[in-house]
Amino acid sequence: MPDGDLLYPVDPLVVESTGGALVLSSPRLRTRLRVIPSVAALLLAARDGVPDDGDGTVTRLAEAGFLVRKEEAADAPGTPWDVWGTTAWSLHNRTRDTPFVGTRADDPAARERVLAAIEAYPRPPSVRAPASDRVLLLPRVRTVSSVPYRDVLEQRRTHRDFEEAPIALDAFSDMLHYCFAPLRFADAGPMGVLQLRAAASGGARHETEAFVFVLDVEHVRPGLYHYDGIRHGLVPLDPSAGRDVLEHLTHHQGFFKRAAFGVLTAAVAHRMAWKYQHPRAYKLLLQNIGHVAQVFSMTATALGLGAALTGAIRDTEADTLLGLEQPAEFTTFALACGVPVRRPDGLPLSIRTPGEPFGGH
Ligand SMILES: Cc1cc2nc3c(=O)[nH]c(=O)nc-3n(C[C@H](O)[C@H](O)[C@H](O)COP(=O)(O)O)c2cc1C
Repeated sequence: MPDGDLLYPVDPLVVESTGGALVLSSPRLRTRLRVIPSVAALLLAARDGVPDDGDGTVTRLAEAGFLVRKEEAADAPGTPWDVWGTTAWSLHNRTRDTPFVGTRADDPAARERVLAAIEAYPRPPSVRAPASDRVLLLPRVRTVSSVPYRDVLEQRRTHRDFEEAPIALDAFSDMLHYCFAPLRFADAGPMGVLQLRAAASGGARHETEAFVFVLDVEHVRPGLYHYDGIRHGLVPLDPSAGRDVLEHLTHHQGFFKRAAFGVLTAAVAHRMAWKYQHPRAYKLLLQNIGHVAQVFSMTATALGLGAALTGAIRDTEADTLLGLEQPAEFTTFALACGVPVRRPDGLPLSIRTPGEPFGGH
C-alpha cells in the first residue's frame, strides 16, 4: 500500500494513565479521548502506518484527529512549541478557553456544581502554621518614602550588584509587610476570610509564602526564617543558611554575594487548588508570583533599595531546605534586596546602554 494511504499517530501524542483511566490527547487537538487499552495499543502500534479500516476504530481515531496522513504527522509545530516541547505545549493548550465560573456566571447550575466541588474538601488554612512558637516580631512602622510614583516607575531596575552595607530594620520590615503581609481582610462567605495584600492574586487565596534569608539587616541575626504575615514576625528555621546556600540554590549568579537579604517564595498550592480545581489555576499561580515580585521591585525602589530576581533555582534542594510539604508546596522565585551599587547616572552597575563598549560603565 502506498505511504500516502496510510495513517500515522498525531505527533505529539500524549497517553496518560490516571486513576485507572487511559486518556489520549495531543496539544494539536482540542479533544481528549478516554479509551480502552486496546485502542491506545492500536494507536501506539500505528507508528509504521495503518490502513483505514473503513468503519472501525481506525476511522474513528482518524475522525477525532489522532490518526493523520504522513505529511500532517510530520508537520513541524514551529516555535515556540518545537523548542519548548510537548509538556509546555500541552499545558498551554489544555488551559485555553476555559469557561468562567464565578459569582458573575450566568449559569447558576454550573455555579452550584463548582461550589459543591469546593465544599467537598475542607478549606485549607489561609496562612501557614508556624514551624515553632519562637517569633521575632518586627517593627510596625512605615518608612517615610518621598519618592514620587513616577520616579518609582522610571527608576525601577534590576540591581545585581550591592554595596557591602546593612539595610535598616525599618526598611526591611516595610519590605516584608508590603510585599507579603495582608493589608486588609475581606469576608468572602463560603470562601472564608481572604487576605488582601498589595499584590493582586487570582483567587485571592494568596498562596505565596516568604522564606527570608537575613544576610545583613540591622539588629536581626542572620539566618533563614519563615515570614509570618499575620504576626508580622520572623520564625527562625536555620541560622546557618546564608549567602553560600542562596548562591548555590540560584546557580551562582552573584546576586546574594552582598545582598542585605534574600527571599525564596513558595506556593502553598493546595490553598489555591481548593478553590480553583482546574489546570488553568497553575497559570494563575505563576502570574500571581509575578505580581508579588513586581511589588517587591517597586517597593525596594521606593525605599531607595535595589532588587533582583531569578527563577533559575535548584527547586528540589530549595524545597527541602525550606521544609516544604512536597509536592503540594514548592519554591517559585528567588528575590534579592540590598543597597545597590549605582553608576553616576543612577543606573545599575551591570547595565550597558546602547553605544557603550562592552565592559564600560
Ligand atoms: C520572571 C523573571 C525572571 C528573571 N530571571 C533573571 C535571572 O535569572 N537572572 C538575571 O540576571 N535577571 C533575571 N531577571 C531580570 C531581567 O533580566 C531584567 O528584568 C531585564 O534584564 C530587564 O532589566 P530591568 O529589570 O532593569 O528593566 C528576571 C526577570 C523576570 C521578570
